[in-house]
Amino acid sequence: MATSHFLLVVIFFITSLFHVPKLCLGLNLKKHLSLLSGVQPHWASAGATWYGSPYGAGSNGGACGYGGTVSQDPFSSLVTGIGPSLYKSGKGCGRCYKVKCTKHPSCSKKPVTVVITDYCPGGTCAVGSAHFDLSGTAFGAMAIPGQEEHLRDAGVIEIRYARVACDYPGKTIAFHVDAGSNPNYFAVVIQFEEGDGDLASVEIIEESLTNDSNEEWLSLQQSWGADWKIDPGRELHAPFSIRLRSQYSNNTLVAKNVIPVGWKPGATYRSMVNY
Ligand SMILES: *[C@@H]1O[C@H](CO)[C@@H](O)[C@H](O)[C@H]1NC(C)=O
Ligand SMILES: *[C@@H]1O[C@H](CO)[C@@H](O)[C@H](O)[C@H]1NC(C)=O
Repeated sequence: MATSHFLLVVIFFITSLFHVPKLCLGLNLKKHLSLLSGVQPHWASAGATWYGSPYGAGSNGGACGYGGTVSQDPFSSLVTGIGPSLYKSGKGCGRCYKVKCTKHPSCSKKPVTVVITDYCPGGTCAVGSAHFDLSGTAFGAMAIPGQEEHLRDAGVIEIRYARVACDYPGKTIAFHVDAGSNPNYFAVVIQFEEGDGDLASVEIIEESLTNDSNEEWLSLQQSWGADWKIDPGRELHAPFSIRLRSQYSNNTLVAKNVIPVGWKPGATYRSMVNY
């Protein structure tokens, strides 16, 4: 108790140095504690193309498994397919990058933040150290207003990119239960993680079987993209809490009882938490 009070006082003192208004204390604390947020963007060069419709989200879902949400708030079509070097067999799903184009005359040179939602395995996407196959919306957003068409006609362009913390104001982490799930097999697509945006591990606990002396977290395996699965060889009993650990910052977070009794395959369950 004493230590946690002392910690709070220290943290309050530190945040007061940043002139954080009192009302936003909780939110800003969270941001300051996220490692990636504190990192200066490290810019590097990549190739960029676009796919899908000129004002669309690239795909209707993409290899990460986020489905139709790619075109909805908070992704809002500012999404990208990515070459193998940054897709990392799906471990890159959900990461956020700033991208900007500087060389083509129609470039605004202003950075646009995009989220990895899809995989682009071959062709130009496999050339060079990194490649972004942006949605038409994201590609156009790098242009001087009114010159989006010119930029989209440019073919492959060179861009600068930097990993940044994901920020989804007012959004909590969502769990979309895979349509193929049943009492003996549970698979879930996880999205809208702030900060790192990615996940190193996912575990569930069956709250109905838990008590203080007997706690068992079960590990899920990454199935594909942002989809994680468990096949425990027995029936699982809801409600489940889900524990997430981010890759870059190694932060853990528990979404308590996020999967309720009577959960349905294909349904999305919203947690109360985010990084
Ligand atoms: C609670 O923990 C004890 C000791 O590990 C165990 O014997 C008991 O079965 C547990 N209860 C439930 C409901 O899991
Ligand atoms: C991540 O954090 C866990 C504890 O939450 C720790 O056991 C583990 O060693 C950490 N991993 C790295 C790579 O720092």
